Amino acid sequence: MKDEELLQAAVVARNFAQAPYSHYLVGAAMLCRNGRIYTGCNVESSSFGLSLCAERVALVKALSEGEREFDRMAVVISGKEIAKPCGACLQLLSDYAPGLILILGNLEGEYERLSISKLLPRPFGRGDLLK
Ligand code: THU
Repeated sequence: MKDEELLQAAVVARNFAQAPYSHYLVGAAMLCRNGRIYTGCNVESSSFGLSLCAERVALVKALSEGEREFDRMAVVISGKEIAKPCGACLQLLSDYAPGLILILGNLEGEYERLSISKLLPRPFGRGDLLK
């Protein structure tokens, strides 16, 4: 699958974002190694701290359906900037999808390809707990 197709799936998911507080709409699409795609959008709560990021929604949807092998994740926002996953999402993605490639884009079709290890170079991980 082309990066552009995965980005398009994230654009569609972004339309479902529930962001009445921040008005910052985010869409994500996780491509698994078996070719399946799980999308996510951000879902905010009136109790702000409960809000969920699009990336984590997509990851958890995939994990909860039994997926364990991940290839790429596209993330899109509007505006001139490209998407930038938060630290909490990077931690979870690094825990469950350490070899992931992120396709970070916007609605104008601009995007950058970055590995999770570039975005989170020295991750805390399961191995640290066993030392
Ligand atoms: N958000 C995401 O969904 N993904 C990101 O990469 C950064 C932030 C959401 C959380 C919240 O709903 C809104 O964007 C503003 O922080």
